[in-house]
Amino acid sequence: MDRIIVEGGQRLVGEVEVSGAKNAALPMLAGVLLAEGRHRLRNVPDLADVRTLCKLFEIMGARTQRGEGALADAITIDVDASLTPEAPYDLVRTMRASVLVLGPLVARLGRARVSLPGGCAIGARPIDQHLKGLERLGAEITLEHGYVEARAKKLVGAKFTFDVVSVTGTENLMMAACLAEGRTILENAACEPEVEALAHMLNAMGARIRGAGTPALTIDGVRSLRPVEHPIIPDRIEAGTFLVAAALTQGDVLVKGALPEHMEALIQKLRATGARVTAEQDGVRCQGADVILPTDIKTLAHPGFPTDMQAQLMVLLSVAKGSSMVTETVFENRFMHVLELSRMGADIRIDGKVALVKGVPNLSGAPVMATDLRASACLVLAGLRARGQTEIRRVYHLDRGYERMEEKLSGLGARIERVRD
Ligand code: EPZ
Repeated sequence: MDRIIVEGGQRLVGEVEVSGAKNAALPMLAGVLLAEGRHRLRNVPDLADVRTLCKLFEIMGARTQRGEGALADAITIDVDASLTPEAPYDLVRTMRASVLVLGPLVARLGRARVSLPGGCAIGARPIDQHLKGLERLGAEITLEHGYVEARAKKLVGAKFTFDVVSVTGTENLMMAACLAEGRTILENAACEPEVEALAHMLNAMGARIRGAGTPALTIDGVRSLRPVEHPIIPDRIEAGTFLVAAALTQGDVLVKGALPEHMEALIQKLRATGARVTAEQDGVRCQGADVILPTDIKTLAHPGFPTDMQAQLMVLLSVAKGSSMVTETVFENRFMHVLELSRMGADIRIDGKVALVKGVPNLSGAPVMATDLRASACLVLAGLRARGQTEIRRVYHLDRGYERMEEKLSGLGARIERVRD
């Protein structure tokens, strides 16, 4: 397994290009299953999770092809009638977002059999909302041998209110409703930019979705959708990770392609710690302050502070002048990075959903282990700041959501390298 070695203490200065958003690419790839024909998605990040979903498509009978040269950012997907609507366990367990094929398959083919994703490091992550919503649309759901089977001659539009705000739950039901008979109304829907981006793509395919980006979605079903060529929005979490890296190292970094309107809550919190964050013509710039101020954060559904940035901001708060409270309200076990940060000298105490972060003058480099995607990003950030060398193991977690991270950070002056074992 690869390791990443970081020599801390370098100021990060310069420009870095943000990639396409993982959490937009995955639902949009699933969305093309709703229409036969040749689709092309642009600005698709080259990530392990994207490759995993393409592998699933091949197993189901949809052909995918990454472009070359000027089209290297594009993926072409050929979808035809003869799809095998099954997502096997040994693939779904490596990437739970595979559950996003459920809605499109049952909507277009009347049948889908998808392995139950199971939990992961950050929580149980049930899919009860996905299943309750599909039942509401008339699907017959059976659970056996670790698989969920959904069947429906024809989905029928209905009103469904989510018990909890669910990003992929909203995406799954929005996709299914596109081909249902009549109108579907989804209440308490997720408002993430990735949900809105998916709706834009589906409407470009001929769907009739209104209200995306708000808690109330209206979808009027249509008989069929057409193939699409569509771009993926920039990754606000990757962008946010680089902004934190600049603040952490008293650097000055322009994240090109970042959209400030997708990152308001994060930008507000970075400014509260004393960093200077400005929206520029072609991106968002962060200039780190000499003194990092403490601030409290509470993770919430969008437009609240994103849970996917909690671990990264905690690194900044761990070297602030004072104490901060970090409350994780979205997932039940998303403080796994705290144990590793503590080994680097951070002073953090956990009490249930709250972590009390007492700032220390600096962190010290150490061998650490990544446990999940955003925890691994947090450990890389900690290594950039810490005195001495940090070695991060199990970086396959990082590769699920960050494209060439060590190259991008090296380009900003970091002393970082990947050691392939
Ligand atoms: C999406 O996961 C993202 N993944 C996650 O990003 C992100 O952390 C999360 O949304 C929250 O923003 C993708 O978009 C591929 P949820 P998702 O359903 O949809 C509970 C990353 O690091 N819930 O919004 O799986 C659930 O347990 C990843 O890029 C139910 O109870 O998250 C959680 O507590 C990590 N029943 C809360 O809702 C359900 O049926 C939010 O989960 C569904 C969810």
